[in-house]
Amino acid sequence: MITEIFSTALGKYQLDLDSKKIEQYCLSIREKDEKGRIVSNAGGYQSNLLDLKDETLKPFRLSLMKALKEYYPIYESNKNLRLQEYWFNINGHKAFNRLHSHAGAFISGVYYVKAPQDCGQIYFQRKTNLNLFKLDEVNKYNCEGYYQDPKENLLLLFPSWCEHLVLGNNSKEERISISFNFVTEWKYEIYFNASCL
Ligand SMILES: [Fe+2]
Repeated sequence: MITEIFSTALGKYQLDLDSKKIEQYCLSIREKDEKGRIVSNAGGYQSNLLDLKDETLKPFRLSLMKALKEYYPIYESNKNLRLQEYWFNINGHKAFNRLHSHAGAFISGVYYVKAPQDCGQIYFQRKTNLNLFKLDEVNKYNCEGYYQDPKENLLLLFPSWCEHLVLGNNSKEERISISFNFVTEWKYEIYFNASCL
């Protein structure tokens, strides 16, 4: 019998949202708030945090919940999940995002609103030192990271500790994505019972 003892789960969900409508939403926010904020982005635009109750993004939030219904149970957690924050990135030509993780959150992810050809893969970096574990072929037991092509309407979910970066956009068109963080919260009854001990 073989037991896989360490694992990182990347959730991939091809959604069917009106991405053009979401694109317009993002562009209109950039118009109103030209400065945005600088976090992991180099050369691109990152919005400030978006309204958690915004109507335009409601179908997106519902799709997130649906995907999490499949993804979250693998962690066998007793806690509730809550969308804490979301924001968008617009990477123009040559813009990229530096290596980072989403500290403090539990599950993070990205949704591609607009992803032209060669607009920059997302790369998940493995932290383990695998220098001594050379195999003839690269596979999940010895790879140093994982590249994922962005695609319009693709949603990715991953554990928030997992470090990642975004390669430079080699397209002349802009690449638009929404990133988000979910945090865990004690369910009331569990908290209540624990606090009575
Ligand atoms: Fe990120």
